[in-house]
Amino acid sequence: MSSVFLHQRPIQTTLSNPSSLSPRFSNFTQRPITIFSRTGLLVLLSLMVILGVFLPWSELPEGLFSSTRPALTKWRSYTLAQAASFVAKNGTLIVCAVSEPYLPFLNNWLIGIARQRHHEKVLVIAEDYTTLYRVNEKWPGHAVLIPPVVDTQTAHKFGSQGFFNFTSRRPRHLLNIVELGYNVMYNDVDMVWLADPFPYLEGNHDVYFTDDMAPVKPLNHSHDLPPPNKKGRTYICSCMIFLRPTPGAKLVLKTWIEELDAQPWSRAKKANDQPAFNWALMKTTKQMEHSKEDKVDLYLLPQAAFPTGGLYFKNKTWVKETKGMHVIIHNNYILGFEKKIKRFRDYGFWLVDDYYSESPLGRL
Ligand SMILES: *[C@@H]1O[C@H](CO)[C@@H](O)[C@H](O)[C@H]1NC(C)=O
Ligand SMILES: *[C@@H]1O[C@H](CO)[C@@H](O)[C@H](O)[C@H]1NC(C)=O
Ligand SMILES: *[C@@H]1O[C@H](CO)[C@@H](O)[C@H](O)[C@H]1NC(C)=O
Ligand SMILES: *[C@@H]1O[C@H](CO)[C@@H](O)[C@H](O)[C@H]1NC(C)=O
Repeated sequence: MSSVFLHQRPIQTTLSNPSSLSPRFSNFTQRPITIFSRTGLLVLLSLMVILGVFLPWSELPEGLFSSTRPALTKWRSYTLAQAASFVAKNGTLIVCAVSEPYLPFLNNWLIGIARQRHHEKVLVIAEDYTTLYRVNEKWPGHAVLIPPVVDTQTAHKFGSQGFFNFTSRRPRHLLNIVELGYNVMYNDVDMVWLADPFPYLEGNHDVYFTDDMAPVKPLNHSHDLPPPNKKGRTYICSCMIFLRPTPGAKLVLKTWIEELDAQPWSRAKKANDQPAFNWALMKTTKQMEHSKEDKVDLYLLPQAAFPTGGLYFKNKTWVKETKGMHVIIHNNYILGFEKKIKRFRDYGFWLVDDYYSESPLGRL
C-alpha cells in the first residue's frame, strides 16, 4: 500500500519527450490531407492551436517562435547544484519528484506548504521537460531536471517496470542532494500539509520517516524503527523522508540504491522502491549494532501527526480521538488518479479548486 500508487496512469496526451513529437502528431502527418478540404482545414487549425498551446514546452524547430527559446535552453542546463543553492533556506530543501500528469497534485500540495510558509524552499524535481518548463515559467528556478528522462509513457502504471524505474530514481535524487550538503525533506505530492512538520523533526537524527502500517499505535509509541512483521520486514513509507547531510543518512541512501540494484524489477514481484527502502533501514540498523563508526540514527515520526492514508481515511473514531494532532495526510491506500482527487475533495483537502491563488504556481 505504498504512496507510489500515485503514479499509475499512462496519459496519452503528454508532450513530455522533447526529442520526439507525441504519437498524436505523427498520426496527423501520416494521413494524406488535402489542404483545401474542410477536414484538412480543421486539422490544420487544430494543429496550430495545439502548437500554439504547447509550443513553449516542446522541442520544435529553432526560430519558429524564437523569443521563447533562450528561457527554455536556460532551464535545460540548470543543474541540481544551482537549483539547490538558489532554493535552499537555512541549508534545507523540500523536494518532490513530479511528472506532467501530477501537476494538479503538485499545485494542491504547494498550497498546504505555502500556508505554513515553507514554500520558498520547495524544489520540484521534474521528471519530464513539460514539468520543468511549466513550473519554471510560473515560478522561476523552482524546478530542475536531473537527466536522463525516463519514459513517462510507461512510468505511471503501478507495478510496471517503467514505474519501478521511475521510483528508483528517488534515492539517487536524495543522495545527490545530501552530497551537496543540504537537509532535505522528500514528499510524495499526494499529500496535504495541515500544520508545520518541522517542529516534529526533533533532535539530531540522520533519517526521519513515517510508518505505512494502518493499525493504531499508542500516542507515546517508540521513535525507533518498528520491529519487522511476519514477512520479516518493516513497512516504512518511502513517501515522506527527512534526511540530514550526515554519513548515516548517506549510508541509508546508498544501501537503498544497492538494494534496488540487487533486486531489480521482475514480473513476479512488481515492486516499487519502498521494499528496498525498508531493507536498507533494517540493514543499516543492524550495522549500527556491530560497528560504532557506521552508527545510523533513525527516527520514526509520531503516527498521530503523520498517519498513513490506510488509517486516516478508514478510521473515523481514530481521527476524532486525535483531532488537532494531524500534520501531513497522505492520500494512499487507494488506486487511481480520479479516486484520489475525489477522496481529497470529500475531505476538503482538494484545495486547488478554490485556493489556487495561494499556490506559487497559481492556476495551472
Ligand atoms: C536554521 O537551522 C538551524 C539548525 O538546523 C535551526 O536550529 C534554526 O532554527 C533554523 N532557523 C530558521 C530560521 O529556520
Ligand atoms: C528500466 O530500466 C532497465 C535497466 O536500466 C532497462 O533495461 C529497461 O528498459 C527500463 N524499462 C522501462 C520500461 O523503462
Ligand atoms: C506509554 O504509556 C504507557 C502508559 O502510561 C506506558 O505503560 C508505556 O510504557 C509507554 N510507552 C512508551 C514507549 O513510553
Ligand atoms: C479505530 O480507532 C480506534 C480508536 O483509536 C481503535 O480503538 C480501533 O481499534 C480502530 N479500528 C481499527 C479497525 O483499526
